[in-house]
Amino acid sequence: MNAVIDTILNHRTYRDFQPDVVIPEQALAAILACAQQAPSWMNGQHYSIIHVTDTQLRDKIVALQPRNPQIGTCSAFLIFVADLYRAKLASDACDGSFDAASMPDTMFTMTVDTSLAAQNALIAAESLGYGTCPIGGLRLVAPELVALLNLPLYTFPLFGLCIGKPSVEMRIKPRLPQSAVVHQNQYQTQSLAEQLAQYEQTMLDFNEVREKLPFRQKISHYYQQSFAPRNTALLRRQGFLSTFEEE
Ligand SMILES: Cc1cc2nc3c(=O)[nH]c(=O)nc-3n(C[C@H](O)[C@H](O)[C@H](O)COP(=O)(O)O)c2cc1C
Repeated sequence: MNAVIDTILNHRTYRDFQPDVVIPEQALAAILACAQQAPSWMNGQHYSIIHVTDTQLRDKIVALQPRNPQIGTCSAFLIFVADLYRAKLASDACDGSFDAASMPDTMFTMTVDTSLAAQNALIAAESLGYGTCPIGGLRLVAPELVALLNLPLYTFPLFGLCIGKPSVEMRIKPRLPQSAVVHQNQYQTQSLAEQLAQYEQTMLDFNEVREKLPFRQKISHYYQQSFAPRNTALLRRQGFLSTFEEE
């Protein structure tokens, strides 16, 4: 249809990258500029991006995340940090109370801003012929990252983004049928359970090697909280969710 739509519809995550590929400075600058051009709540731009260029630091992160070795082999590794630190500086400059920082809704603000910026970076990178892999596994080691990256109060490392030249081809992964995701006017719950069962079969037929469980079991297992990241204490230490009162 057009090149942007082609790029987006051609997306798939890559997890194996050719070593020693250098992304030209201009290309990386364009990827980062695209990230920054994303819309944001109040133009607050509630995120920061840490480009990990220090190989020793990268090795430490790889050691913390052995299930994501692509962090070590990709050409550029970016960490997307939800960030209210600059908002705190703005508040201080105006003697503001900064009360809203500890309210749960602020988690949406900063997560949405950070994610939109990251998706812009991902699309830009893919449009330039690179492969990408988001690394949400970082949230499992968020306390260590706060220390390693010297993250100040009012920041939180949300995920990484690997960018590089793929060495192993990946297939485009099927999505849920549009009727299970897109509704007209009102949310329709009818037939969603059947559509989930059908999608599970679609994914079984797709036969992705790294998927160990059928789709619904995988989701159910995760939401049993057995291995979901537990970051409430860290969020409080970073200045979030601390003193909010129910409205
Ligand atoms: C926020 C987020 C975190 C993710 N974290 C990881 C990760 O830690 N490791 C990984 O291999 N893939 C990760 N992924 C990639 C997803 O597994 C992948 O996008 C999903 O299975 C759909 O596959 P596709 O991107 O190839 O279409 C992450 C994706 C997102 C959006």
